[in-house]
Amino acid sequence: MTHPNRRPLIAGNWKMHKTVSESVALARAIADTSRIGPRTDVVVAPVFTALSAVKTALEGTPVALSAQNLHWEAQGAFTGEVSAAMLVDVGCRYVIIGHSERRQYFGETDDGVAKKTRAARGAGLVPIVCVGETLSEREAGITFDVIGRQLDAMLAVLDESALATTVVAYEPVWAIGTGKTAKSSDAQLAHAFLRDRAKNKFGDAGDALRILYGGSVKADNAAELLAQPDIDGALVGGASLDAEGFGRIIRAAG
Ligand code: PGA
Repeated sequence: MTHPNRRPLIAGNWKMHKTVSESVALARAIADTSRIGPRTDVVVAPVFTALSAVKTALEGTPVALSAQNLHWEAQGAFTGEVSAAMLVDVGCRYVIIGHSERRQYFGETDDGVAKKTRAARGAGLVPIVCVGETLSEREAGITFDVIGRQLDAMLAVLDESALATTVVAYEPVWAIGTGKTAKSSDAQLAHAFLRDRAKNKFGDAGDALRILYGGSVKADNAAELLAQPDIDGALVGGASLDAEGFGRIIRAAG
């Protein structure tokens, strides 16, 4: 039986898209059209500049707010950065950490991801920590080494009680924004591997960890992915920018 903590979670990562007014319109449309079931958690992650306005637009709806990044320090001389407490202050409940675009274009490391995870949890945010192999890593047969290493870095800063309020997103890098989705059976293998690793470290508490799949999730492939026993939801990029399509993904989650 699936652990009761693992309600389906559908998160929309809007990346560097949308002005404030466009973000508010999209947030309203998602909250209106999605017919979110009581068992599904829905999260949207706008750009920093739109967080405050989107928070207001989501008042009274079941959709929660996430940021796309944070800095691990509480405050200080870190030009261009935003802290966990500042995200809480603006109304975020979640924060995406270690997205492959951050790792690839902004030099984020496992060590930085671990520090960010610790800072997010310290402020009461739910971290959505991304792991995933590149195409060349997959072809070299080292997928599990890579995602195991990425997961370990983040598990190292958690204790057993944290697993129920921490989320992992398995996002094969070659599937992000490419229209190529992992086969649901391959995704399931990776998710089961990640869960086993968490259970090896923390015992049965690992069953509470929610593991999302990300990488070209669309309305027409979501149901099959979400039906896999260790896939607890989706982190959606491109398809989350369209309220209708995102609503269909939410409904596929139950
Ligand atoms: P995509 O992005 O759905 O556009 O592939 C997913 C992600 O980067 O989180």
